[in-house]
Amino acid sequence: MKRIVILASGSGSNAENIIKYFKESPSIEVSAVLTNKGTAKVLERCDRLNIPGFYFNRAAFTGSQTVVQFLEGLQADLVVLAGFLWKIPSNIIDAYPNKVINIHPALLPKYGGKGMYGDRVHQAIKDNQETETGITIHYVNEHYDEGAIIFQARTTINPDDNVDAIAQKVHQLEYEHFPKVIEKLLT
Ligand code: GRF
Repeated sequence: MKRIVILASGSGSNAENIIKYFKESPSIEVSAVLTNKGTAKVLERCDRLNIPGFYFNRAAFTGSQTVVQFLEGLQADLVVLAGFLWKIPSNIIDAYPNKVINIHPALLPKYGGKGMYGDRVHQAIKDNQETETGITIHYVNEHYDEGAIIFQARTTINPDDNVDAIAQKVHQLEYEHFPKVIEKLLT
């Protein structure tokens, strides 16, 4: 059995989609979801989906081996960031080379970097009157949104699409592609 551990900071709709995708898989499972926010909605989703959910704070994550040891205990084969907002410390990256991946709601290298997350990305894209956007799934390194790109998918933006409409189009791409890309990486 290959094991996925998801890290998420917020709503967790991608986490839920991934959990559901692998629910019946004989060879891949989501072992747990970890969050840096005790009130994150993703923990409610874990309850409903019967998946272990854990909260850790900054001290456990940065400058300590606690989270690495926790991931080792879970025997994680792949660490999936799905709306996770903290920078990943080097001890985790070193322990999991090319085994930590992230999804970014835009076509990197455009619209990435610190502070570029969620609706801020879609707002910037709208402000710049871009005619397309998309998703990027990439390996995680020490710099925000700069690891090697694994997969991208695109969608067009109409002039009358507001930020919500753009976000919705991007989410659709995420739901369609993220589980499949994860599956490919693990088989
Ligand atoms: C997604 O758009 C993802 O690309 C980004 O954060 C958002 C998380 O949404 N990194 P959700 O928590 O999965 O609903």
